Amino acid sequence: MCGIVGYQGNEEACNILIDALRRLEYRGYDSAGIAIWDNERPIRLARKQGKVNELQGAIREDDFRGRMGLAHTRWATHGVPSERNAHPHRAGDVVVVHNGIIENYLELKESLKKEGNSFQSDTDTEVIPHLVSSYIRKGNGFEEAVRLSLKRLKGSYALGIIREGENTLIAAKKESPLIVGVGDGEYMIASDAPAIINRTNRFIFLEDDDVVVVRDGTLKITDIDGTEVSRETKHVQWTGAMAEKGGYRHFMLKEIFEQPRALSDTLIGRIQEEQGEVLFEELSLPDMGKMKKIWMVACGTSYHACLIGKQIFEANLRIPVETDIASEFRYRDPILDENDLIILVSQSGETADTIAAMKEVKKKGVHTLAICNVLGSTLSRESHSVVYTHAGPEIGVASTKAFTTQIAVFFMLMLHLGKLTGALDTQDVRRHIGELKKLPHKIQTILDSHSEMEECARRNMHCKDFLYLGRGIHFPTVLEGALKLKEISYIHAEAYAAGEMKHGPIALIDENMPVVFVSPRDQTYKKTCSNMEEVITRRGKVLLFTDDNEHEMSGKVDTVFVFPETVYELQPVLDVVPLQLLAYYIANLLGTDVDQPRNLAKSVTVE
Ligand code: G6P
Repeated sequence: MCGIVGYQGNEEACNILIDALRRLEYRGYDSAGIAIWDNERPIRLARKQGKVNELQGAIREDDFRGRMGLAHTRWATHGVPSERNAHPHRAGDVVVVHNGIIENYLELKESLKKEGNSFQSDTDTEVIPHLVSSYIRKGNGFEEAVRLSLKRLKGSYALGIIREGENTLIAAKKESPLIVGVGDGEYMIASDAPAIINRTNRFIFLEDDDVVVVRDGTLKITDIDGTEVSRETKHVQWTGAMAEKGGYRHFMLKEIFEQPRALSDTLIGRIQEEQGEVLFEELSLPDMGKMKKIWMVACGTSYHACLIGKQIFEANLRIPVETDIASEFRYRDPILDENDLIILVSQSGETADTIAAMKEVKKKGVHTLAICNVLGSTLSRESHSVVYTHAGPEIGVASTKAFTTQIAVFFMLMLHLGKLTGALDTQDVRRHIGELKKLPHKIQTILDSHSEMEECARRNMHCKDFLYLGRGIHFPTVLEGALKLKEISYIHAEAYAAGEMKHGPIALIDENMPVVFVSPRDQTYKKTCSNMEEVITRRGKVLLFTDDNEHEMSGKVDTVFVFPETVYELQPVLDVVPLQLLAYYIANLLGTDVDQPRNLAKSVTVE
């Protein structure tokens, strides 16, 4: 996830773009860059690793005079954070900023290299200016060259493109957000409205395959073939304070709502439904034939994802999986076999205990595979191989979209390994991919019912203790739900495997104790219903989360929240979302510091 912005108007573009870039920094701050053009001088371009401040420090305003430009703040996906990989990218006289992922960039790069083009970065983006330049060299005008290039791209993009010598800014959108700001004598493009809300509150919200051409102060929007389309200009009532959070009150809420998008980005380029294949470009693995055991090691929320990963792997691959908390694993001298595979999971890739666990394992010559969100992080660099979750920057301390994308990665890895070992055939993989693809839409339907969770939060916000219960694959989900509530609302919450309730926690139940049950209609259903009966008999208050519209306990419980159905192993991706919302709304109503709860840190880099 990156932030892009562009300007054409009557004022100096540089400061306007830098200011907008700051408001987009929540979308990533691995590097920043800017390109400015005016009639008299060639395009000037500056790029810096790090935050927008670094970029601003590197620019002399006098050198960057001009009334049209593009700027970018990066969250690295392809190519480590560095100046070389920073946007804008340039080829010949064409300059591009991009948010999204070009899935077929390797293929395009190969063919462009054969034409004699040389590449300066490791990014997927750089193919775009090369493509446009190549079409211009073949005799097409700028606009036509962009259209022809767009037709060659697979994947997602929000693009800003300029060309030396032309007072034309072209923008295009497919599956990544992009809006046009309509100001007084100026047009801007941006990844979101808050980035430019200080200049205008009139916006055009673009649709997929829209192409915007701003030429000499006039605006035209067409489809990818050049046919004009009409898009409404809307007035938006937003405040500057909403800016950094894209209109959300907290980063955590924004990140919860980003999950459909994040999950799509995790899947993109990896699943091939037709062929029944899941491909990981970045993966190298030890000999599966000799592998006796797989280990999954992590901390916090990432550890909960491991507990789910274990169930996904064991059920389908029939290979024993052991899970461990990194701070325990590293000190207990685990019995490892040189043919084992150790999967280390970390959103940040910087958690000290997880890194230490990885180092211990490497000393013993065992293969390490990292599942990380942050590109170029220590864990991702030092493990033998890495799979990225591509969830985009997670800023709220309480992890949300990292968790659901980690589960998706585990599921995809299982499909990949299943195909390798013969545990799954093409039909199985195809069917599972079909289910995976439906998840973003299903999460969206849960998010659309968020007000139910807000109401539920209002009714329960003053309770002092919560109990969370679930069985099977829902046990890790309730651990995660309880962790979310503790972290951000400071309310005591405990999670148990529902079958364990009668071995202790049942003593706590009275009319003041909400008991959260996750109980979809699966193999755990009947047993969990019995546990609910036991709670209700003791006057406990049940909050039920299920995929069953006609759950047999519906009439007896305090609250029922129904989420969509999916296959058993993917249910946690859905059932955790209302639990995230519940925790968020309770904390928000209590007025705690949701994004930076007391005593906690996003990335724990000490033991
Ligand atoms: C901290 C964060 C948690 C996170 C854990 C592991 O405790 O507050 O949200 O789950 O670290 O972080 P990692 O980056 O390794 O996933």
